[in-house]
Amino acid sequence: MEGFAGKVCVVTGAGSGIGQALAIELARSGAKLAISDVNTEGLAETEERIKAIGAPVKADRLNVTEREAFALYADAVAQHFGKVNQIYNNAGIAFTGDIEVSQFKDIERVMDVNFWGVVNGTKEFLPHLIASGDGHVVNVSSVFGLFAVPGQAAYNASKFAVRGFTEALRQEMKLAGHPVKVTTVHPGGVKTGIARNSTAVEGLDPKELAKTFDAKLAKTTPERAAKIILEAVRKGHARVLVGPDAKLLDLIIRATGSGAYQDLFSRVTSRVLPTRSH
Ligand SMILES: NC(=O)c1ccc[n+]([C@@H]2O[C@H](COP(=O)([O-])OP(=O)(O)OC[C@H]3O[C@@H](n4cnc5c(N)ncnc54)[C@H](O)[C@@H]3O)[C@@H](O)[C@H]2O)c1
Repeated sequence: MEGFAGKVCVVTGAGSGIGQALAIELARSGAKLAISDVNTEGLAETEERIKAIGAPVKADRLNVTEREAFALYADAVAQHFGKVNQIYNNAGIAFTGDIEVSQFKDIERVMDVNFWGVVNGTKEFLPHLIASGDGHVVNVSSVFGLFAVPGQAAYNASKFAVRGFTEALRQEMKLAGHPVKVTTVHPGGVKTGIARNSTAVEGLDPKELAKTFDAKLAKTTPERAAKIILEAVRKGHARVLVGPDAKLLDLIIRATGSGAYQDLFSRVTSRVLPTRSH
């Protein structure tokens, strides 16, 4: 894809799924990659595939919730490549369970990775992106950052938060005259390990939930998702809906309004996905 040659791109959660596909597609497009993940096995696979393409790559174990480590990492990447153009704050986790039966720690863990991980990455890399003269922040929310469903309160909260944070950032960069574009990403169901890597409230089997997700909800491949995201990044779009399901769901919630969609979606999702053990 055009527009990425020579760009230094940072991808978090690059050891699997959308992050891995983004890193590989960026490498194919001539970018230099700084990839990270807590999953070092998956990360090593991504690194090998990027090396096979012939693109420069720096791979590091990084937990996006560790702010101090993120600060050191941002400086190390800038020093290694001499500049940083783009960050893809992609790392994320899923959790299923009604609020009534969820633990505080479950909700905090989801917010720590999905929201604070994005804040950490954005804040620590922003000075480098501004200094590059040609920066881009790409933050991965979800369709669950556009509408809420029962059993996904923690995930919904984290993804709505990513959307609010990122949409404000885009306006701030414009008003400040900084050379940094900003894109919020809202994928629908993408065939990745997210559901298989997820957790759930006691009594719900995450493996059963993952089976339903894999069979019924995840329709877009990570490779296709990466191409859609990079096309939107290249064009500097404010937001990108990934997959036909994301586009349709966005239309439905805009047509029905925020009250009516809740009545409609709760009836549908409660049939597809259990959210509590009884
Ligand atoms: N797959 C979907 O259907 C879908 C839909 C909407 C949004 N998303 C979002 O897309 C992003 C990528 O998810 P995916 O579907 O590729 O899932 P995935 O599980 O395949 O990949 C996520 C990666 O993030 C890593 N990660 C988790 N916690 C981390 C942490 N604390 N620090 C660093 N890395 C960490 C995991 O090890 C994993 O490699 C996530 O933000 C997810 O919420 C996915």
